[in-house]
Amino acid sequence: MTVESVNPVNPVNPANPVAAQHPEPVEPPLAAGGVPVLGHGRQLVRDPLGFLARLRDEGDVVRLRFGPKTVYAVTTPALTGALALNPNFEVAGPLWESLRGLLGGEGVATANGPRHRRQRRTVQPAFRLGAIPAYGPVMEEEARDLAARMASGEPFDCTSESFRVAVRTAARCLLRGEYMDQGAERLCAALAVVFRGMYRRMVVPAGPLYRLPLPANRRFNRALADLHALVDEIVAERRASGHRPDDLLTALLEAVDDDGAPISEQEIHDQVVAFLTAGGETVGATVMWLLEVLAEQPEHADKVCAEVEAVVGDRPVVFADVRKLSHTNNVVVEAMRLRPVVWILARRAVAGTELGGYRIPAGADIVYSPYAIQRDPRSYERHLEFDPDRWLPERVGDIPKYAMRPFGVGNRKCPSDHFSMAFLTLVTASVARRWRLEQVPGSDATHRVGITLRPQRLTVRATPR
Ligand code: HEM
Repeated sequence: MTVESVNPVNPVNPANPVAAQHPEPVEPPLAAGGVPVLGHGRQLVRDPLGFLARLRDEGDVVRLRFGPKTVYAVTTPALTGALALNPNFEVAGPLWESLRGLLGGEGVATANGPRHRRQRRTVQPAFRLGAIPAYGPVMEEEARDLAARMASGEPFDCTSESFRVAVRTAARCLLRGEYMDQGAERLCAALAVVFRGMYRRMVVPAGPLYRLPLPANRRFNRALADLHALVDEIVAERRASGHRPDDLLTALLEAVDDDGAPISEQEIHDQVVAFLTAGGETVGATVMWLLEVLAEQPEHADKVCAEVEAVVGDRPVVFADVRKLSHTNNVVVEAMRLRPVVWILARRAVAGTELGGYRIPAGADIVYSPYAIQRDPRSYERHLEFDPDRWLPERVGDIPKYAMRPFGVGNRKCPSDHFSMAFLTLVTASVARRWRLEQVPGSDATHRVGITLRPQRLTVRATPR
């Protein structure tokens, strides 16, 4: 964790005019448009992205009402950094409770405090910069196979293929083993149903309804059971093999807790679930957006192809090329700016505190939206334009701190940022080099808001370059 320069607990922040005028923290304003009983719920359900993106006009921190509940929304880049770095906030709230209930409560994504620190120490080595090149051959192969599965002129279902490549890559790199050849398909099918059902359970928290023996509930329960069974098989197979490859699973199997005792079977299981779900869903959705960019912005696809040809020549793209593919990398970053798959993040205040001069009571739920922050015209010139060159070294300094953090900030920052960026750059390079893409009739690339943000139903046709 890097503790950066924003001081989250300073009650008087001279950079913030509200705080400067009010040395005593004040209550944040109530967002406009709430209605009796439902509060802002209808706006959030109808148009979550638009609603969250408009909130900055109302204040740096604003209150939202959902029935009897108040939620605080943070709207400026600096305050999202302050929130993420302030130890008075931890991961809790409806999003996390739902994840904990369904995926398990012992994984790193849902733990807090000393347990979370101990878990990060176990998993972090698998993601350090120096560990990533060892994943290169698997990443190259998966990126190349994805491009090879696009047959000339045939419709290509980006949803299933993107999740497939994401899950396969995470599993083959971090949990090395043979099981993935059949396991990946099962895992992807289970995860697709689980994520859809989890999102529904979060936005419509109608607890008892989800226990009725309805077909949708049965499908959901079967998928969840299959996900957990598959993870048990992965762990059992590794144990039976006697192998100890240098990977995340070995680190988990050998991890000890603060008393020096091996961590529990439940914790090993929940950690594997946490990494497969977090890795599959996020990388899968980002691959979809990258394929959409290549299809919808042919001039950028051509530029990526030209860079790959200049760097790589006639041979296949390999992992070692990634650091030279700087334009391709900027295309990935710009796609992640405009379509951040993690579009909302949540925290809970463990103690009464303040943010930017506003009072936050103990127990309050706080949200912020990377989507809103990364599309804010106050932070980005021509904010909705797809402009990979804004990430050139001579221009990047214009972008405010914390205005582009698709992997989060602070002690909860995604452990997989380098891993993901390397893989996404390889995928973009491998596909753009080989194919021109276009959407086919019936393809729908509008935003689908779920646990992650992804295109509704993207289908492309590839023609060889
Ligand atoms: C956490 C984004 C890929 C595993 C996070 C967080 C974000 C994020 C924003 C922080 C959540 C917070 O602040 O509350 C992304 C994006 C990805 C990506 C945009 C790819 C495009 C991956 C992959 C894996 C992974 C490939 C695993 C293989 C995790 C885990 C956490 C996490 C375990 C929880 C960390 C903690 O709470 O300490 N990710 N992620 N992510 N991510 Fe990722």
